Amino acid sequence: MAKIPTVDLSPFLREGYEDEKRKIVDTISKACCEYGFFQILNHGVPLDLTSQAVKVSKSFFESPNEAKLKCSPLPNVPVPAGYNKKPNPSYEFSEFLIMLPPGSDYNIFPDNPPEFREVMEELFSQFMKISMVIERILSECLGLPPRVLKEFNNDRSWDFLIAMFYLPATEKERIGANPHKDLSCFTIVLQNEVAGLEVQKDGEWILIAPQPGALVVNIGDALQVLTNDKFKSPRHRVVRPNGRSRNSFAFFHNLSGDKWIQPLPQFTKEIAEPPKYRPFLYKEYLQKRRESKSKHIARIEDEITISHYAIPEE
Ligand code: OGA
Ligand code: NI
Repeated sequence: MAKIPTVDLSPFLREGYEDEKRKIVDTISKACCEYGFFQILNHGVPLDLTSQAVKVSKSFFESPNEAKLKCSPLPNVPVPAGYNKKPNPSYEFSEFLIMLPPGSDYNIFPDNPPEFREVMEELFSQFMKISMVIERILSECLGLPPRVLKEFNNDRSWDFLIAMFYLPATEKERIGANPHKDLSCFTIVLQNEVAGLEVQKDGEWILIAPQPGALVVNIGDALQVLTNDKFKSPRHRVVRPNGRSRNSFAFFHNLSGDKWIQPLPQFTKEIAEPPKYRPFLYKEYLQKRRESKSKHIARIEDEITISHYAIPEE
């Protein structure tokens, strides 16, 4: 059975180790072309923090509805930070809590468990830190000059973190998150030991098997556009387990919403390739995606995707 590659990231947290770094870059390049997914070990995010995060988030989601609903998002906010259940049809079978960067006025945390806020804020900043390393690695995988991505993507205020909770499968429904592609540049996922995340490749669903201490990374739509399809945003879903609930966290390393995005010259003009996407404002895409979800579109196929901005081939 196909297996998503796992790499030991520790050489990238140190000076030197150039050979090891080159090997990691090779493995990740292949994984990004083949699956759009890979897993990382020894990433520097403390394991006692990740296991505590899983514990406190589970305890929050298992608290009474009444307590959870107190954390409902404020009305009329750009991002529904706080506790969400329905009516989002893509997440019909999960509950989740969205967190914007620490310090954002929109963030809403429960009083219970008391350490929830602190743990989420620490997780956010650790993910932000490791995302800078991943960005550097992906930039090398793509053969970009070292500072291009970093300078293009230098506003961290649009990143967000979601704590997710999936109830056990029922006889009628096993899906926890419908097949989708992420809007981010890339996403970092922390999953507990309960399997469920799957990526689609050549029509088949491949399990991203949970590994103790590992984080999952996947490419998102923004990087697909910037690289003119060199790295593609993989379609993935969550299938709910039997008899157990599942916890996960997804950190979206985004672009600034105010950026106009289009394929970078390194993947078009400089190699005489036509751009596959027309320029668009990133937040316009975020907005369209949100609208298309909230309209309760019956068929997932009708949702807006990145192909909305594709330039038809001659
Ligand atoms: C997502 C996602 C996977 C998971 O939030 O976009 O794909 O394991 N989450 O919860
Ligand atoms: Ni996703």
